[in-house]
Amino acid sequence: MSVNSKSVLGVSWRRLVGRRAVPFPVALPRLLVGPRVRLRAFEPDDAPEANAAIRQSMPQLHRWLPWAAREPSLRATRRFVRTMRRRFRDRREFHYFLTTHDSPAIMGCIGVWRRGSDAAEIGYWLGTAHIGHGTMTEAALLLTDAAFDLLDISCVEIYCAQDNVKSRGVPMRLGFTCTGRVENDRIDHQGRMLHTLIYAMNREQWGNHRRGVNSI
Ligand SMILES: CC(C)(COP(=O)(O)OP(=O)(O)OC[C@H]1O[C@@H](n2cnc3c(N)ncnc32)[C@H](O)[C@@H]1OP(=O)(O)O)[C@@H](O)C(=O)NCCC(=O)NCCS
Repeated sequence: MSVNSKSVLGVSWRRLVGRRAVPFPVALPRLLVGPRVRLRAFEPDDAPEANAAIRQSMPQLHRWLPWAAREPSLRATRRFVRTMRRRFRDRREFHYFLTTHDSPAIMGCIGVWRRGSDAAEIGYWLGTAHIGHGTMTEAALLLTDAAFDLLDISCVEIYCAQDNVKSRGVPMRLGFTCTGRVENDRIDHQGRMLHTLIYAMNREQWGNHRRGVNSI
């Protein structure tokens, strides 16, 4: 049975539970830098560019993301940026935009938040134009590293719809293990029932596995 099959105003129970979670003891850095990818915390003026990036990728985002039922207004994206800046400051949720070293253009977004007492969940999306180059795998590696370094958690989890092969590829490339399946977890925007796979990595596994994924 799934607690996530119901929602309040389009927000899943899972996220509501996460929102009530206690703050992390420390904040993650506002900038995380990898060989090719930079993760930077949201700035107040980001909404117009983020809104444009989301609109350009709507068909793909709409297919998989509960919040992408329709194109967001600029006002909605401003609210999202403002809320996530506050939650970053309050150490409750750490969201970043992805850029490269060569260009400040926003390519996508990744975030991490508390999931239960001992785990953190990572979620992400990438602009359609940037798919297929390993960008999100590198971003998820950076964020998993930071989470295990700095947060009071022993496990990082990534939740993917079973049919979302692209999304599942990210934790699989990083050596996460599929630890569970939530049947009939939610209904997508086309009315299809989706099953969710849970990918997990614990602190000890990551320490061992990390040596093998230094270069991706
Ligand atoms: C999920 C999502 C971020 C995955 O994007 P992606 O580009 O496939 O993931 P990455 O950026 O890590 O790139 C991996 C791909 O690049 C290829 N690649 C090329 N160079 C690479 C490199 N140096 N390292 C790793 N992969 C590389 C991989 O082979 C893989 O391609 P494949 O799927 O054809 O095998 C993207 O599809 C998306 O935003 N989807 C919509 C939103 C969504 O589903 N979010 C997740 C909800 S749970």
